[in-house]
Amino acid sequence: MLQSSTAAREVKNPTWTVGDVHGQYSYSNPHADLYRYLSQWSDMESYLNVGYSRPGQYHLHASSHLRLINRLADGLLELHAAGPHRADRRLLDVAAGRGGAAIHACRRYGLEVVGVDITPYNAHRAAQNAREKEVWPQVRFNLGNAHRLPLADASFALAWSIESPAHFADKPAFLREVGRVLKPGGAFTWADLLAVEPVVTASAENRQIYDEFLRVWDVPYLETFDSYQQALTGAGLELRRAEIVTRYNLDILNRDCAIFLWLARFGWLYRWYGRYLKWRTGANLDHVYEHVLGSHRALRLGMIDYGLFWALRP
Ligand SMILES: C[S@@+](CC[C@H](N)C(=O)[O-])C[C@H]1O[C@@H](n2cnc3c(N)ncnc32)[C@H](O)[C@@H]1O
Repeated sequence: MLQSSTAAREVKNPTWTVGDVHGQYSYSNPHADLYRYLSQWSDMESYLNVGYSRPGQYHLHASSHLRLINRLADGLLELHAAGPHRADRRLLDVAAGRGGAAIHACRRYGLEVVGVDITPYNAHRAAQNAREKEVWPQVRFNLGNAHRLPLADASFALAWSIESPAHFADKPAFLREVGRVLKPGGAFTWADLLAVEPVVTASAENRQIYDEFLRVWDVPYLETFDSYQQALTGAGLELRRAEIVTRYNLDILNRDCAIFLWLARFGWLYRWYGRYLKWRTGANLDHVYEHVLGSHRALRLGMIDYGLFWALRP
């Protein structure tokens, strides 16, 4: 039995490597099959976040990704408007994925964006998307690591990172890097998965469920709501606002997982759908099943939260 004092952020995925992250986002490990599956409803070649929906809003659609991005952007630009760099329209997108958020920032908010991502497939795909959407070169993408951003000190007035830090092996180091590249008075927002400490550490069984969640998502460890705020202060940044929005995204994901698992109990349906899915998207339904099960077991216990944060560099 584990001591309940074991801090959730100290609970690490022992097998994680950055190669797993590349695998998930380059369609070369089994966890990528979830994105193939989801591509039937949403634009997974542009957006790789869980989105945000209020009751009555349809979730499995690109519009849910855009709602999350707008929520972060509105809070960020509000801070920016009150700061010393309001005329500076350049945004840094840390771990920009396939570029959907950066492109949206340009089209809706008129921002120029530099995106950085560690996965070559994503950086390439993001650049292709920017060209197709005719926002290149206002929106550009580079290969790079959030732990050592290939950017000069104090070079951006605006920065964000959307649901990517979960994959970073050292989140305090990432926050310090953001603090380094932000101008004094610059604004920053990020969204991320959070471990709910008392639930993760409540029992050995919960720890196992949590380990499996980290494994299926190729995540090294998660911060908690509190540990993130401490790390932010340690990075010299000042928290302005934070929100837990689990009910608007992870709870919806969990409901969809429960429906999937219920339908999977009908063997004939599972076999038929497995063949259809393979033909339609190339995904292996058994891989999707494993991902959904590993997610649902953790989410239904309330083990994972989803946080939004807005901060300033003083
Ligand atoms: C869940 S996706 C989110 C992408 C994008 N922000 C979005 O909302 O669509 C996570 C992204 O983080 C990137 N990533 C993971 N570890 C990274 C690191 N150390 N440095 C830079 N990017 C990283 C992955 O390649 C992937 O594109």
